[in-house]
Amino acid sequence: MTVYAVASGKGGVGKTIFALNAGAALSEMGLKTLIIDCDIAMANLGQVVNVDSKTEYSLHEVLASEVNSGDAINHTSYGLDVILSSVSLVGFLEADMEKLSEVLKDVVERYDFILLDTATGLSQESLIPIMVCDEVILIVNAEFPSIVDAQKMRLIAESMGKRVRGVVINRVSGIKRELGAKKCGGIARAGYSGRSSGG
Ligand SMILES: Nc1ncnc2c1ncn2[C@@H]1O[C@H](COP(=O)(O)OP(=O)(O)OP(=O)(O)O)[C@@H](O)[C@H]1O
Ligand SMILES: [Mg+2]
Repeated sequence: MTVYAVASGKGGVGKTIFALNAGAALSEMGLKTLIIDCDIAMANLGQVVNVDSKTEYSLHEVLASEVNSGDAINHTSYGLDVILSSVSLVGFLEADMEKLSEVLKDVVERYDFILLDTATGLSQESLIPIMVCDEVILIVNAEFPSIVDAQKMRLIAESMGKRVRGVVINRVSGIKRELGAKKCGGIARAGYSGRSSGG
């Protein structure tokens, strides 16, 4: 069983869509897979996944210790399971992200893969999933701002002792100003000092 945190740094690069597509693909290969929407403040997975019949509970209630993890699992027709976060602000305020490791403990035995869809930037919703995962998958777009932010995430993950399993370059359209795969992967691996002001 492996828990992957799907992370980026910069927002809107395709973390949620990647988690969903990767989760669906793994499920279709017969691997028991669960996605947990850890973006408890700006939850989006629920708007892009079709579940068979939605449970009454979300990750918010699990993190508020109101229900068990199992009570918040939704099933999809293609075999993938998902624990969604709700769009409720009150639910967000009552959720304690630090309970995420307990949530995982309750479900790890049931799955081959768990994908943690994380939040953008540096917050509990982006950092705690990295803290509790086995490995990190970084999502970038083929442009410098996205890659510089992803590099920061790589440094943070590595400082927590987590390996970055790979970098996914998403939304490549083939236009001239896009960075190539070699550059994207290379920049995300190599020597950002943390002191640069960018550029
Ligand atoms: N490969 C793709 N091709 C076309 N559109 C895409 C692709 N990947 C993502 N998108 C679109 O880009 C937008 C952002 O994607 P998504 O919500 O997955 O990003 P995110 O990194 O999870 O964002 P956030 O930081 O807000 O959580 C969405 O409208 C999504 O449908
Ligand atoms: Mg997202």
